[in-house]
Amino acid sequence: MNPFSYGTVVKEPYFFDRKEETERIVTTLTGGNNLVLYAPRRYGKTSLVMKVIESLNSLGFACIYFDFMTVYSRESFIQVFSKAIFKQQGYTEKVMQSIAKLVKGIRPKLTFDQNGTPEFSLDFLETKISDKTLDSVIDLPDKLFPGKKRLIIIMDEFQDIDKLNGENFEKLLRSKIQHHSNVNYLFLGSRTHILQDMFNNKNRAFYNSASAMNLGALPKAETINFLIERFSLSNIKLEEDTASYLIEQSGNIPYYIQFLASEVWQYTINQKKIVDKEIIRLSSDKIIDLKSDYYIELFDHLTPYQKKLLKALAVSGKNVFSAEYALTFRLSAGSTTQKALSGLINSGIIEKNENDYSFDDPFFKQFILRLTA
Ligand SMILES: Nc1ncnc2c1ncn2[C@@H]1O[C@H](COP(=O)(O)OP(=O)(O)O)[C@@H](O)[C@H]1O
Ligand SMILES: [Mg+2]
Repeated sequence: MNPFSYGTVVKEPYFFDRKEETERIVTTLTGGNNLVLYAPRRYGKTSLVMKVIESLNSLGFACIYFDFMTVYSRESFIQVFSKAIFKQQGYTEKVMQSIAKLVKGIRPKLTFDQNGTPEFSLDFLETKISDKTLDSVIDLPDKLFPGKKRLIIIMDEFQDIDKLNGENFEKLLRSKIQHHSNVNYLFLGSRTHILQDMFNNKNRAFYNSASAMNLGALPKAETINFLIERFSLSNIKLEEDTASYLIEQSGNIPYYIQFLASEVWQYTINQKKIVDKEIIRLSSDKIIDLKSDYYIELFDHLTPYQKKLLKALAVSGKNVFSAEYALTFRLSAGSTTQKALSGLINSGIIEKNENDYSFDDPFFKQFILRLTA
């Protein structure tokens, strides 16, 4: 079996490191503070949070986890949120009755499929979800655990709350949760610039409502050890500097490291017993081939100037606004570049870091470099 895993939440043995981060998150939350954890997509936020939940559970905290990615309306929020509560509390008649009693505008239903697995659904009793119903849904966890157990609520991909902003959802949520004295909140998100604005901008509802933590890449030495060890299980040899090369080709992003390693393993397992750089290059090519339809489409949708800028960014993401950069890559005035760059960031293609700009997907970057070559 392939010793690498990517695409979903990973657990041991596919998960390594993050001990300090786990500890810091747990300490912050158990100390009674809210926390916002940022990192670009595919850095391992959700996997880390599953570890955090295990830890919190063992300390006697109850955790409710849900993902804003699937939320696009008040209805869907209520659905996703109450389902998460059921999951934590158990799918019982009793929980259902308390929910029905506490929230007037909804009627929760529990059915059982052929295997006896409970399935949860909701009927809405209002044509348009009222603020009152929404209020009482948000207050549910606080009410369901009166003073007993401390509770942690985890909202993944929290920046997606933006999708509901027309409805003033953000304000409403903030005004409610500040009164939840036995609940602490952990917010996770991958669109750093959106989240930072939500939590650092004085005019936004969530201003100053949580401590912030940034999740970085996995440490290099540990990643190298992980790769060497996982390959060695199949008697495949990987030298340290080849492992380094693999990490570099994956943009040092946890997901892409395991993706590429997994392709390399497939290539190697039936042929050689040692990984070299050539195999890593061939495996990268394979990944780019696999995704090329998608990449072509992504590229086609850009404006001509964005295409030009993207090609420049594939070569270098540093000093993008310098005169030298403009000259080297034949770019126009800074404001034109700024506008195109914002577009690339908003569509999730480019990430803004402290001092430079990088590709969200290192293989898309390689694809672009090949267009230019
Ligand atoms: N601590 C880790 N150790 C090993 N691989 C990891 C780790 N964290 C993340 N990954 C890799 O990254 C992929 C994406 O992780 P995920 O938790 O879904 O990230 P995010 O929630 O930030 O998008 C995982 O499927 C796995 O391949
Ligand atoms: Mg995630």
